[in-house]
Amino acid sequence: MKALAFLAALAFPLAAAAADGSAEAGAAVFRKCTACHNAEEPVNKVGPHLVGIVGRPAASLADYATYSEAMKAAAAGGLVWDEATLAAYLAGPKKMIPKTRMAFSGLKSEADIAAVIAYLKAVAR
Ligand code: HEC
Repeated sequence: MKALAFLAALAFPLAAAAADGSAEAGAAVFRKCTACHNAEEPVNKVGPHLVGIVGRPAASLADYATYSEAMKAAAAGGLVWDEATLAAYLAGPKKMIPKTRMAFSGLKSEADIAAVIAYLKAVAR
């Protein structure tokens, strides 16, 4: 029993550190997005603002008028931006949603994708 409690005490802080660690790196990755997206203020550019994007249903901003039909269809099908769906979209926007208006080829590195998602969560706090 003592050994188990020790293992549990060891495991939890490590998991928390891994989940938080990359937001700073993600701020640098996000520079690839800032031409089209604001994540700090709810202000739309070419793309919809990304404040609170983790957990937000797709195509859900009432003041962003130019979502593609493809994105609206994905939203009607129940698409919500959680970490898994964001990772898939950011790896290959047109692989996930072939007719999306987002003119971005995708992030090649899984570490960059994890970092930018950590950043988007951190700025939403
Ligand atoms: C060239 C401009 C451009 C770049 C660069 C770009 N995006 Fe986008 N993004 C868009 C547009 C336009 C849309 C709307 C897509 C649609 O309606 O099909 C969009 C949509 C999104 C959505 C869905 C938002 C919603 O409300 O459903 C997310 C998430 C997103 N982008 C994240 C990113 C991230 C993160 C990056 C950088 C790694 C990035 N984008 C780079 C233009 C861009």
